[in-house]
Amino acid sequence: MKQTFFIQIPLGLEKLAIHELRLKWPVVFPNKTCPEVFAEDGGFNIELLFEEACLLNHWLKIPNKILLRIASFKCRDFPKLYKKISAIDWKPYLGAQEFSFQITSIDSRLFDDRKIKNAIQGGIERYIQKSPIKKKFLEKTKEYDHWNLYMRIENDWCQLSLDISGERLGIRGYRKYVGLAPLRENLASACFYALTFDLEHSTEYNLIDPICGSGTLLSEALLFLRPNNLRNYAYQFLPCYESNLKPIDHQFEKHFEIYGFDKDKNQIEQFQKNLNELEEQGQDLDIIHTEVTDLYNAEEEIKLKYKENICIANLPYNKRIKNTEGNKKLICAIRDKYSPMKIGVIIPQTKTPPLIEGYEVSENLAFINGGFKVSFVIYRKPSS
Ligand SMILES: C[S@@+](CC[C@H](N)C(=O)[O-])C[C@H]1O[C@@H](n2cnc3c(N)ncnc32)[C@H](O)[C@@H]1O
Repeated sequence: MKQTFFIQIPLGLEKLAIHELRLKWPVVFPNKTCPEVFAEDGGFNIELLFEEACLLNHWLKIPNKILLRIASFKCRDFPKLYKKISAIDWKPYLGAQEFSFQITSIDSRLFDDRKIKNAIQGGIERYIQKSPIKKKFLEKTKEYDHWNLYMRIENDWCQLSLDISGERLGIRGYRKYVGLAPLRENLASACFYALTFDLEHSTEYNLIDPICGSGTLLSEALLFLRPNNLRNYAYQFLPCYESNLKPIDHQFEKHFEIYGFDKDKNQIEQFQKNLNELEEQGQDLDIIHTEVTDLYNAEEEIKLKYKENICIANLPYNKRIKNTEGNKKLICAIRDKYSPMKIGVIIPQTKTPPLIEGYEVSENLAFINGGFKVSFVIYRKPSS
């Protein structure tokens, strides 16, 4: 039986995330047509089998969460809310969870978060009194800590959703060491994908981050086409999850080699530690290389595998790290050193990115990283 899921996406990245779904679907679910999606701000709705939604947690790298819609109904008072909640068939979802509640109310009679939460909790308790939960499910759910229920009320229409991801999907379960201006992993994945998704399948290139810091952009590039089995997900601890769903490690063909450079030895060491951790967890690192190198050092000879280069970088923002050189100077240095077919840079949000001679702006993707409004600007050589 198909159910409705909401795939929650960072604002501004919705189209890219739908593109990612369409790229990966035929590989993850061969012989099944990718379902239609219904986009809205901050995500999209999609009808899926429960098992399909579970697997997508591992494969989709741009979303924040996958939510299962468990009930929707019109409601204007608390006694009715309590009644509606206690009438839901909670059996597939309920054990001994201590839920965190994410409540949103817009233009509705019910608006007091605390009272809404109490009514939901009361309704669930009532359900449990009527239908006690089996001991094995109490134990199973206790093994996991991140349980979230989402209640959205708009114009008195209530929509209750269960978060089947648990911790946000950007938490990959591997990175321990972060640099000065860390980028959220799912945003890093989105940047890598935005930069490369339109390349011909056979294009061979070096992906270079010349100021890689602890290497978030490059680690995400390495793992983008691999399922994330390095962490737990809430769905694995739900009563309705019985099968031992093991995401198959499909291999997408790879046509790129990854290079991470930074002038700061400590940053490269941190990146290397992250890579070592990934290797310990069974990830193949044969396409990734790191080196201490100053972007402005033109003397050094750097050996790269392929002819074409694509550069990606999170430029230092003035707010956290002093960017004395200025963005334009850094981008020009990247251009001069690597002559890349494309350059993708994260800079403070702007509608007028710096003009770079010999390149045109092909994309300016706006999103928020750690509270800062940023743009991922893609430059390309007009001919490529
Ligand atoms: C904004 S951080 C990059 C963050 C990285 N994307 C991450 O998520 O960890 C800036 C990095 O640029 C490096 N950097 C600044 N100027 C450089 C230069 N001229 N050559 C090489 N690295 C440089 C710094 O050492 C710092 O690690």
